[in-house]
Amino acid sequence: MRVLITGATGLIGKEIVKLCHENEIKVNYLTTSKPKIENTENYQGFYWNPDKKEIDTACFKGVDAIIHLVGASVSKRWTPAYKKEILNSRTESTQLLIDNLKGETHQIKQVVSASAIGIYPDSLTNYYDQSFNQTSDSFLGQVVKVWEAVVDGFAEVGVSVAKIRIGLVLSNKGGALVELVKPIKYGLGAAFGSGKQWQSWIHITDLSNIFLYVLQHQLTGVYNGVAPNPVSNTELTKTVAGVLKKPLVLPNIPKLFMKLILGEMHILLFESQRVSSKKIQDKGFDFKFNYLEPALRDLLNLRFTKVYRH
Ligand SMILES: NC(=O)c1ccc[n+]([C@@H]2O[C@H](COP(=O)([O-])OP(=O)(O)OC[C@H]3O[C@@H](n4cnc5c(N)ncnc54)[C@H](OP(=O)(O)O)[C@@H]3O)[C@@H](O)[C@H]2O)c1
Repeated sequence: MRVLITGATGLIGKEIVKLCHENEIKVNYLTTSKPKIENTENYQGFYWNPDKKEIDTACFKGVDAIIHLVGASVSKRWTPAYKKEILNSRTESTQLLIDNLKGETHQIKQVVSASAIGIYPDSLTNYYDQSFNQTSDSFLGQVVKVWEAVVDGFAEVGVSVAKIRIGLVLSNKGGALVELVKPIKYGLGAAFGSGKQWQSWIHITDLSNIFLYVLQHQLTGVYNGVAPNPVSNTELTKTVAGVLKKPLVLPNIPKLFMKLILGEMHILLFESQRVSSKKIQDKGFDFKFNYLEPALRDLLNLRFTKVYRH
């Protein structure tokens, strides 16, 4: 089997590439960065520039499925221009793939695309499954809604569609956990706002396994990519501090303060989405990390030094 991966060079993409190779799945990948192009039998890079609608269509050769992860990071300041990039990097890249498959003979049967739990409205009480059909009216909620709709367009070229609504990905190689650990390590950690907001986290190993599971079982539709036991922001902060054996002495950080520092992007820290993993479990998927503390111990204790030497 050969898959085409977009965003293969990113945090989640690298893990999925590793997992594909462990499962003897060959990988083609698209990158916007020519220096990242490698060319081996099981890892072949191809250039694209979705902004300019450029793509090396040789990337589709021999490919059975697409894992579509690409997207500009949401962790940079949301200026009006950057907000456009957050949206366009997802929608235009998707449309470019679809347009280049239209009218062509191909053997691609399936796409497994990233999506995000930011589609669910901010709530302290709701428990979201995939059937919930209201969309958050936040910027990210609207981005995800449009992104998912464009991904559905793969059906027009005979490709079945699965979407993984990803939660807060915990990894020791980057992303939220590394940022969370930094202040806690120096005794400056604190929860945000009331600390009651739900954080639907997932260990990066489980997330990568979900992508592969959906691929190998040819599942279609929407699946939440979150662990079975979401926690509050306070519990997340306390558990990280506990695992690192660091005290938490500071009061919670007020929303207004973070808004001044981060601008509109501050909502990433204050929005609450309690999200259910039941649907993928009902399909037979087993999580390796059901609870936060063992997930953190795995990520922080064993490879702790690696995090800080980057
Ligand atoms: N990490 C999380 O906690 C999380 C949570 C929810 C959803 N997600 C979604 O999952 C996907 C993968 O996340 P990730 O954390 O692995 O992201 P990442 O580390 O930022 O990697 C994303 C990849 O997308 C490509 N890219 C970035 N900006 C681009 C642009 N403007 N145009 C075209 N390509 C661009 C880059 O690949 P090249 O340099 O090779 O082109 C990059 O390696 C994203 O769509 C993200 O929204 C992630």
